Amino acid sequence: MASWQRTHTCGELRESHIGQTVVLNGWVNSYRAYNDQVFVDLRDRYGITQVVFEADQASFVAAQEIRGEFVLSVRGLMRERLPGKHNPKLATGDVEVRAQELTILNRCPTPPFEVTEFPNEELANEDLRLQYRFLDLRRVSLQRTLIMRHRLNQVMRNFLDQQGFLEVETPLLGRSTPEGARDYLVPSRVHPGNWYALPQSPQLYKQLLMVAGFDKYYQIAHCLRDEDLRADRQPEFTQLDVEMSFVEMDDVFGVIEGLTAEVFKQCLDVVIPLPLPRLKYADVMLKYGSDKPDLRYGLEIAELSDWVGQTEFKVFQGTVAGGGKVRGLNAKGAVDKFSRKQLDDLTLFVQRYGAKGISWIKVEKEKLTSPVEKFLPAAAQQALRQRLSAEPGDLLLLVADKEDVVCQTLGNLRQHLAGVLKLFDPDGNVFKIAWVVDFPSFIWDEEEKRWAANHHPFTAPRDEDLHKLESDTGSVRAKAYDLVINGYECAGGSIRIHNPEVQSRLFKVLGMSVEQARQRFGFLLDALRMGAPPHGGIALGLDRWAMMLAKTGNIRDVIAFPKNQKARDLMTGAPAPVDAKQLKELGL
Ligand code: AMO
Ligand code: AMP
Repeated sequence: MASWQRTHTCGELRESHIGQTVVLNGWVNSYRAYNDQVFVDLRDRYGITQVVFEADQASFVAAQEIRGEFVLSVRGLMRERLPGKHNPKLATGDVEVRAQELTILNRCPTPPFEVTEFPNEELANEDLRLQYRFLDLRRVSLQRTLIMRHRLNQVMRNFLDQQGFLEVETPLLGRSTPEGARDYLVPSRVHPGNWYALPQSPQLYKQLLMVAGFDKYYQIAHCLRDEDLRADRQPEFTQLDVEMSFVEMDDVFGVIEGLTAEVFKQCLDVVIPLPLPRLKYADVMLKYGSDKPDLRYGLEIAELSDWVGQTEFKVFQGTVAGGGKVRGLNAKGAVDKFSRKQLDDLTLFVQRYGAKGISWIKVEKEKLTSPVEKFLPAAAQQALRQRLSAEPGDLLLLVADKEDVVCQTLGNLRQHLAGVLKLFDPDGNVFKIAWVVDFPSFIWDEEEKRWAANHHPFTAPRDEDLHKLESDTGSVRAKAYDLVINGYECAGGSIRIHNPEVQSRLFKVLGMSVEQARQRFGFLLDALRMGAPPHGGIALGLDRWAMMLAKTGNIRDVIAFPKNQKARDLMTGAPAPVDAKQLKELGL
């Protein structure tokens, strides 16, 4: 061992080490220089230890050079801190190292932003942090998050291993497969004019593994999708991908519920009550305006379309007559929280979601105050109070529009109001987890004037809906499910079609000819014909699970080297131009 190498980490020294000579290696988290003493907080992944250089030691002179983020080796004697100088916030806060020897292992210019985290201090601009991600990753909170993510992966691996799942790797270079998003393409040098596609998920491979008899598969898989980014979306993300044979939905739920409880217990010491509730798609769309509702608060949306007949409001009546919906919600006790201007500004908010307007109604003891009050006869007012359980001080918010616009608008408004009214604690340990089931198998593509698969075209319809595949396509429900945690879609999957006849009918409904289907995924169709077992599975968005555990709404906070919102890696500069020679080799 070289003399500069550490005997201990910066997180492990305690009172029991007092009197020992130790060597620590680490980064200068902070330093304070006085006439006869220099204090350094030395940091590594494991913690922070206070080091003191005193004027009577040879190392004191060299210590004058120390600056933030220098890399040091310090040899010294462990001692108790002076009375009153103990720091209960640090695990090592009862002790300090009295430095005898100092080796500066490396220097660092003044960093472009503060690496040391101080309470309540705002972080540097994210673009700058992403550019110097190797410095950003020194921050204690990012280190904690990545350590948590490591734990998450280990818990999942151990759990699935114990349940008899096999970890199998599948290729990154494959063939373009139909999953909805745009593919990232890779040109072939050996076969000019031909392209690989990077996987949007290992979906087809895992089905082939079931055909091959592997029975229970999992993989921590990188998935690549060239889609528009959001706060919870990256072009490159990670799934815990799972597939099982001879199963129905209940079996998949059983495994994933056990896994979920284990993750929250091991990572946060939070107990998740099982079984998880199963909510129907149609119900959550009505009540919460979203297929990924945040269930930490109520603020439920109520159907009012059948009430508008009692009003004299043309906007409402016209909407319902045209096949639209009128729905509303009651923001309890919210009247004082909104000025007149803020209420009028809600119109701008709802317009973002395509709504034409919003009607606000203040509930008072004797009357309702609202721009639409004049259209509401006494009986309609009374009925509205009852429907929305309105009490004085409540604020009622109503939207009339096409059903999907009403859902979008009120769903987002519900979320917005929950934030304003502080109906949940964003940093709390409350996790409301539920399955959403009974998704429609197909959605109508208005542009293309045809049915499209709501998931992928291998998702099985519910048995009891099979008879109306052709006759009432829109009402067919799928054996598909999402797992929703605190308003985030954290997993999704389905039972697959293993019956070639059902598969052909489904392709026909999707307007796909046998030849087209063969051309796109003939290999899977062949496999499904050659003794495919009934099978199904799910994929967990691990980045989103890490977001839940770390309680952040920013997916970049849980990924070591993320892309920014424009899909750029600010550190390496990717994507970047390449040499003309490289392009020529590829025949481009
Ligand atoms: P799906 O497309 O629903 O299903 O993806 C599964 C889960 O992956 C996460 N996710 C993402 N996370 C971050 N950034 C993205 N761009 C992103 N896209 C998806 C979500 C989502 O629930 N093959 C199927 C699964 C199956 O049927 O078994 C699939 O990929 O948490
Ligand atoms: P107006 O008749 O244009 O003066 O609108 C009267 C009230 O109805 C205003 O408060 C509007 O914001 C509201 N309003 C207009 N369109 C809608 C709609 N689609 N849904 C709910 N309220 C609306």
